[in-house]
Amino acid sequence: MLEERRILITGGAGFIGSHLAEALVEQNNSVKIYDNFNSYYFNKEANINRLKEAKNCTIIKGDILDLDNLKKSIGEDIELVFHIAAQPGVRFSVKTPLKTNEINVTGTINMLVAVQNSNAEKLINASSSSVYGPPKYLPIDEKHPTDPISPYGASKLAAEKYCKAFYRVYGIDVCSLRFFTVYGPRQRPDMAIHIFTQKILRNEPPTIFGDGNQTRDFTFVDDTVSGIIASAEAKDTAGEAFNLGKGERYSVNDLISLLIKATGSSVKPIFTKKMKGDVSHTWADVTKAKKVLGYNPQTSIEEGLQKFVKWYKSMSPDQIPKASP
Ligand SMILES: NC(=O)c1ccc[n+]([C@@H]2O[C@H](COP(=O)([O-])OP(=O)(O)OC[C@H]3O[C@@H](n4cnc5c(N)ncnc54)[C@H](O)[C@@H]3O)[C@@H](O)[C@H]2O)c1
Repeated sequence: MLEERRILITGGAGFIGSHLAEALVEQNNSVKIYDNFNSYYFNKEANINRLKEAKNCTIIKGDILDLDNLKKSIGEDIELVFHIAAQPGVRFSVKTPLKTNEINVTGTINMLVAVQNSNAEKLINASSSSVYGPPKYLPIDEKHPTDPISPYGASKLAAEKYCKAFYRVYGIDVCSLRFFTVYGPRQRPDMAIHIFTQKILRNEPPTIFGDGNQTRDFTFVDDTVSGIIASAEAKDTAGEAFNLGKGERYSVNDLISLLIKATGSSVKPIFTKKMKGDVSHTWADVTKAKKVLGYNPQTSIEEGLQKFVKWYKSMSPDQIPKASP
C-alpha cells in the first residue's frame, strides 16, 4: 500500500490506468493523471468519472510526445511515476507500425528524460507479455527469450530496453512490468473478453480467430493493479522486468464456455482464420514477482468474469468503452 505520495500516472484515463488511479486515490495519495484521451477508443471520460470528484486527483490533458509539458507536469514535487500510457493493440500495430513505435518507444524515452530531469524516485513502466513472442517453454519466466512477432511486441521490448539503458547510464530507478491479458470493468473494446461478452449478451455468435485452442493467461485488473503498486514499494527492482499474470492459462474455447455460463446464454461461437501477430500461448511464471514484489494474484477466472459481466450489464451504453468507428 502506498500512502501520501505525490504520483503521476500516464495513461490514467485508460483501462488499467484508471483502476490504478482509483486505488491510489483511495489510499490517500495525491494523484496526477496525464493522458491525451486519444481516439483509439471512446469513452475515456466515463473511465474517470469517479476520479473527477476526488479532491486528491488532478487530470491533465497532455501528450507524452510533448516533452516540455511532461516535464512541467512532473515538476519538482512528483515522487513516483507510473508510465501506463501506450498505443496498445497487436492488430492496430500490424496496420499502423509507425504510430505504435512513436507512442510506445519515443513516448517512453520522453518519460525517461522527463524523470531524469526531476526529483522522482522511481519510474514503473507498463510492458507486455508480447515481448516474448512464441513460447519456447511454458510457463514463461523472465529469462525466456524475447522475440516478439508483432510491431506492438517489438515496440514494448524496445521501450523496456530503453528503460534498462537509462538505469545503466543515468542510474534511473526504473522497472518494467509485463502484463498478461488484463480484463475487468472498463476493459478496452478491442479485447477478446469485451468483444465476446458484447456479442453473447446480444445473442450473437462470438467469432474465434483460429481453432480456439490457443491459450492465454487472463489476469483480473485488480490483481494487476496490486502488482503495480507492490512494484513501487519493493526494493531491488531497478533495471528489472517482472511478469504480472495470474499464473494459469485457459483456452479461448474454455473462455467462451465460461462466458456463456456467466451470461446464461446458449449461443455457439463461429471460427475464422488466425490473425497475424497473435502468439499461440501465453502463461506467466510469476515466481519472481511473488518473491521480489510480494505479488499475490487472487481472482479466479470464474469470479473475474462474473464481475466483468455484472459491470457490463449494469452500465448504460454510453458508459461502456466503444471502438472508434
Ligand atoms: N490491457 C492489457 O491486457 C495489456 C496487456 C499487456 C500490456 N498492456 C499495457 O498496459 C498499458 C495500459 O493498457 P490499457 O489496456 O489500459 O490501454 P488503454 O488504451 O485503455 O490505456 C492507455 C491510455 O494511454 C493514453 N495514451 C495513449 N497515447 C498517449 C499519448 N501519446 N500521450 C498521453 N496519453 C496517451 C490513452 O488515451 C489511454 O487512456 C499499456 O502500456 C499497454 O501496452 C496492457
